[in-house]
Amino acid sequence: MHNLGILLSGRGSNFIAIADSINAGRVANARIAVVISNKADAPGIANATQRGLNALVIPSKGKKREEHDREVVAALKQHNVHLICLAGYMRLLSPWFVQQFPRRILNIHPSLLPAFPGLEAQEQAFAYGVKVSGCTVHFVDEELDHGAIIMQKTVSVLDTDDERTLAARILEQEHIAYAEAINAVLGGEFEIAGRRYRRKTV
Ligand code: GAR
Repeated sequence: MHNLGILLSGRGSNFIAIADSINAGRVANARIAVVISNKADAPGIANATQRGLNALVIPSKGKKREEHDREVVAALKQHNVHLICLAGYMRLLSPWFVQQFPRRILNIHPSLLPAFPGLEAQEQAFAYGVKVSGCTVHFVDEELDHGAIIMQKTVSVLDTDDERTLAARILEQEHIAYAEAINAVLGGEFEIAGRRYRRKTV
């Protein structure tokens, strides 16, 4: 059984999708060991508490990045976390944090990286006028929205779309992609050659 640690800052719909996927057996051999928010008022952390999960608020405000990261890493280690899933965690991890969990931190981003990293990716893509966007699940490295790509899902941009409708359809795909990516990473051996993640066939 693999222990997952979820980090979030807000709504938490990706966290909820992961939790539901575990409960439905779509993610095998995993349990959520702890959910951590850097914001006390994040709806996602309230949901985690309601579900009876270990839910912690570790406020980041006013702390230096690594000082906060050391508190978060201590909590993750205390809960024997094997794989960390960033689920709308709106804070860049320090290099020190990343080095504590090599190839064991995942992030989801609402665009087809390397297009539109950073904040409000769906709005950026819509404003740019792309005809296809989507989402990316990737390993976290020391740069923002940058590490090796595990999985991407595409979403067509319709003539009738606005930023909101596009973001909603991307979010549906995020929820599917994250569970699939967790399964892939936990479910077998993989290699990363350069930036290229590849599952090893047995
Ligand atoms: C999601 O769309 C996620 O991809 C995005 O924040 C949203 C969080 O929603 N993450 C990033 O932009 C990371 N760069 P959620 O709290 O409902 O999961």
